[in-house]
Amino acid sequence: MKFFIDTANLNQIKEANDLGVLDGVTTNPSLMAKEGIKGDSNIKQHYIDICNIVKGDVSAEVIATDFEGMVKEGEELAALHEQIVVKVPCTKEGIKAIKFFSENGIRTNCTLVFTAGQALLAAKAGATYVSPFVGRLDDVSTDGVALIKQIVDIYNYYGYQTEVLAASIRHTMHIIQCLEAGADVATCPLEAILGLLKHPLTDIGLEKFLSDYKKVNG
Ligand code: E4P
Repeated sequence: MKFFIDTANLNQIKEANDLGVLDGVTTNPSLMAKEGIKGDSNIKQHYIDICNIVKGDVSAEVIATDFEGMVKEGEELAALHEQIVVKVPCTKEGIKAIKFFSENGIRTNCTLVFTAGQALLAAKAGATYVSPFVGRLDDVSTDGVALIKQIVDIYNYYGYQTEVLAASIRHTMHIIQCLEAGADVATCPLEAILGLLKHPLTDIGLEKFLSDYKKVNG
């Protein structure tokens, strides 16, 4: 299972990358805005900065909503760095753009996916990744992890190569649940990643090991 961080914050990306287990980064326009990154050239430079920190795929989202606009923006984003994956919303124009990109050697992440039907269209169009939003489904009393499992099963049954990227992960348990559901990738906030490390018995055990060592070694 690949492990991405879901942020545009360079310090958090560095911290996760320093763990040595990070496989990539996802961003979206809201995450870029949260970091105060604005203006075409600053946004592009920020994607390059992220690519220079992490050795792995970096999702950069198009803003255009029409096919021509998505293609123009996607081509510009893909040209920034070989690690860039063009993130495209799961709309009618988006599916057409994903098909265009897949036929022209540009990798894509089909985002804002909330149903198996949307995931089917993303795979048929040749998306590299599909991003079902787990947390946002949970927010509306719908089982986000169940959607991950459903898409994984469908892709396996029909042999689609599109990787299932569990997005909108809100906490550590979501990561474990998506892993159990067979997701190829989980993109997570830093806190959820660090949560995987936490266990009181680890802390208590380490404290005891160190105090026993000190007793005999001074
Ligand atoms: C990732 O690709 C998505 O943009 C992100 O996970 C959305 O997360 P949120 O629902 O917590 O905003």
